[in-house]
Amino acid sequence: MTSKFIRQAYLRHMQKRDHALIGRASLVLQNDPTTLFTGSGMQPLLPYLLGESHPQGQRLANSQICLRTQDIDEVGDNSHTTCFEMLGNWSLGDYFKKDQLTWFFNFLVDDLKLDVNRLYVTCFRGDDKYSLKKDFTSAHILQGLYQARGLEAKIVDLISADQASQSGMQDGRIFYYNDDENWWSRGGGIDKTPLGDPAGGDCEFFFDFGNEYHNQDKYGLPHPASDSGRFLEIGNSVFMEYQKTETGFQSLKSKNVDFGGGLERLVAASLNQPDIFKTDLLLPMIEKLSYLSQLDYANQPTSFRIIADHWRAATWLALDGVIPSNKEQGYVMRRLIRRAQLQASKLGVKISLSDILTPLICQVYTEAYPEFEKQHTGLIEVLKKEEQVFQRTLKAGLRQFEKLTQKKLLTGQSLFVLYDTYGFPKELSLEEAHRQDITLEDNLLDKFNQLMIQQRQRSQTIEIGSYKGGLADHQPMTIKYHTATHLMYKALKLTLGSEVTQRGSNITTERLRFDFSHKTKVTPEQIAQIEDTVNQQIEADWKITWEIVDTQKALAEGVLGAFGDKYGDKVKVYTVGDPQGKHYSREICGGPHVQRTSQLSEDGRRFKIIKEESSSAGVRRIKAVLK
Ligand code: ALA
Repeated sequence: MTSKFIRQAYLRHMQKRDHALIGRASLVLQNDPTTLFTGSGMQPLLPYLLGESHPQGQRLANSQICLRTQDIDEVGDNSHTTCFEMLGNWSLGDYFKKDQLTWFFNFLVDDLKLDVNRLYVTCFRGDDKYSLKKDFTSAHILQGLYQARGLEAKIVDLISADQASQSGMQDGRIFYYNDDENWWSRGGGIDKTPLGDPAGGDCEFFFDFGNEYHNQDKYGLPHPASDSGRFLEIGNSVFMEYQKTETGFQSLKSKNVDFGGGLERLVAASLNQPDIFKTDLLLPMIEKLSYLSQLDYANQPTSFRIIADHWRAATWLALDGVIPSNKEQGYVMRRLIRRAQLQASKLGVKISLSDILTPLICQVYTEAYPEFEKQHTGLIEVLKKEEQVFQRTLKAGLRQFEKLTQKKLLTGQSLFVLYDTYGFPKELSLEEAHRQDITLEDNLLDKFNQLMIQQRQRSQTIEIGSYKGGLADHQPMTIKYHTATHLMYKALKLTLGSEVTQRGSNITTERLRFDFSHKTKVTPEQIAQIEDTVNQQIEADWKITWEIVDTQKALAEGVLGAFGDKYGDKVKVYTVGDPQGKHYSREICGGPHVQRTSQLSEDGRRFKIIKEESSSAGVRRIKAVLK
């Protein structure tokens, strides 16, 4: 049973249940400042989960490539990856718990032929602080599903993962856990749900690989949400029925389902193979690396897994147009590539990973994602160029190493500087010190780790800072900035030329930021002209409406679309003005927007550009406010 079979079987299963198949979104989302990458299938659907209507209806399904870099340091075990494929289905105010749980349960048992005795499920146990009820409904639906298969499923209240590791499973099959395990929002548990975001309790299915994969000394008694490797989560049905407010949660107008199941993990369960790196999505890379290094994967799986995961992630990023750099998405890509190169050098693999692994990745995905075929050579070029940059970094790092160790001593501070400033890996510094008989300062690693923690705290502060606000908040000011962005995009085209294309957008409650292709600096005169144009449109008090349009027709009519987004057959188009008559701009967009442009000038506000700068080669960045 291969990934191809499971992907197709799932999409067919949902199609039979009247779901429209929507294309995947790019790994780099336009208009979503809250995260660097698409981390789950629901992210591009956020406006629709909050009530906007989707052009393809209320039942949607797809397969979405996701990237979650939070767990980058955990990659190396049998189930963690940064990059993965998520099978997803959504009900936008249509079906709810009964259908969702029944369909997925039947898919696992009937289509994937998983042994029902090895399936366990967890449900949300409620939360007193926010007056959220225990999910009895799901637990009882699930009990009925097991019963129909001849299995008496006991329901047990496990409270938290910690408590569960002491109480054990008590012969249960269905378990209640608190919000740390069974609540889902883009930010995490209940308290971490971002303001304005949709969220809800969830039901998670686990596959049991057997107690031999559980280390009791390390993890306590086994239970589904333990990280021990015995249980693997293979699907999460989130019942998104709430929206986070300043004071708690309010019910959304419509109850939604957001389901996601990791394809790698579903394949692993169907093969009864607890190592996801041995599934057909990753195994070709493992085998190739083993052949080239003449080393056995089983003896040192960690390096093999890091290389395979990171190289796949970097290749997908290259496919979606990311270029390695020192900031944002480009920085993460650079880090993934370097970490993979480092592990490859540890294995003694000297050949370029672009040459050996990227073609294998293309082969695995081309049928499901034909865009791979067209870009095959381009991908190798982008990745290879970066590999060479790292080789040069290593050379420069070595020179720096010589300078910092002239007194034949390597300090924790030097180790950190080499790593942080020169990108020279810690392992290489230590190896080099050993080779040259250089003394290591006492507690060298403690000092290094301390500096690393401080550094991490600094970057976390940045991350938290960029999390607040944002279009995703759907606060009035954010929505106003979103509309202002549409007005400005058109004004840029009118002022600088129609070839100007959106390259990125990031909106908070305080300002808008917009990246666009343009070779030269925008002059002060042009800036004044863009500001005037936008302010005139605000004063003109255009009405803003949306409609669902055939994608081809919309593009043929010159409706603007964001670079890098992938569209389905039908799209939602927002028009500033009358779509059939006089209008200022028309743009493909999920919304939301204000109803009339004059709302942007409430409290006497005017549109003003506060910064214009270069963002990367051929791309300019504008920041603007309504003040
Ligand atoms: N959005 C849910 C998840 O990522 C399905 O787990």
